[in-house]
Amino acid sequence: MPKPFVIIGSANVDFIMKVPHLPARGETVTDGTFLQTYGGKGANQAVAAARAGAATHFIACVGEDAFGREMAANFLQDSIGLAGLMRSIDQPSGSALVMIEEGGMNYLTVAPGANHALSPTHVEAHARMIASAGLILLQMEVPLETNQAAIAIARGAGVPVILNYAPAHLISQDLLRGVDILIVNENEAAELCGINPIDPTTAEAAARALASMGPARVLVTLGSQGCLIFDGGMATHVPAFRVAAVDTTAAGDTFCGTLGTALLEGHDLPAAARFASAASALSVTRFGAQPSIPPRITIDDFLQSH
Ligand code: RIB
Repeated sequence: MPKPFVIIGSANVDFIMKVPHLPARGETVTDGTFLQTYGGKGANQAVAAARAGAATHFIACVGEDAFGREMAANFLQDSIGLAGLMRSIDQPSGSALVMIEEGGMNYLTVAPGANHALSPTHVEAHARMIASAGLILLQMEVPLETNQAAIAIARGAGVPVILNYAPAHLISQDLLRGVDILIVNENEAAELCGINPIDPTTAEAAARALASMGPARVLVTLGSQGCLIFDGGMATHVPAFRVAAVDTTAAGDTFCGTLGTALLEGHDLPAAARFASAASALSVTRFGAQPSIPPRITIDDFLQSH
């Protein structure tokens, strides 16, 4: 029985508008379709991990408001452990405005709200949960010092750390040195190391540069070109599955959460990346963040038929 998977990060309410094309500045685009769902990179990753079969705990902060209560109820439906879910009385639940055009590309803006109230003290209060995990997964939508505190606890207990450097913003070398597996997309890689990966060859160059900053293993995701794994000086390209994308929101989150689940089950990184690629391919065929995340049985069926 694999150890639990602890995910620390953001939870948002997503307000999604699907439009024929993304508006230019000052333009009004009509004929949109509206959907309100739950998202946030941390929450999406926790949902992906739980639906793929991991015993998942989520450490996060939502507002003491109706959205916060609905998000908590939603996590329970996916059997996610919520002992680490805090409620802020000062800040509203985090929210995101998402615009998606035909073909699945999106524009995303986020108001962090309660996500920025997730403090190192709160993470430290759940040190025992982190120390008994098989793996922890972090992203960049909560304060950096909160991630730093989680890494310190995990490293002290010998628990491996995955960091999904999303969204990209300033990070310390010290934090990167505490990361075992770094996951970046093309933009995040370019932001961090100055090399813009456009294909597996340039992704290898970026991954090599990123590995020299501390993380033992680096994964560069390349959308429809799959992903590049850099591990112990060796690069492995894992191709993507071909699907018709309607919405790419949370594809990266689905990848991260399911990758962690597969690693906890004992799969090596290339096998885990193939599993995660299948899950993320399935997610882009459906609209919305959490509604698009597939359950384990769908991922297994998809892998068998591909
Ligand atoms: O990665 C997608 C997520 O980013 C959305 O669900 C949105 O809430 C933002 O956090």
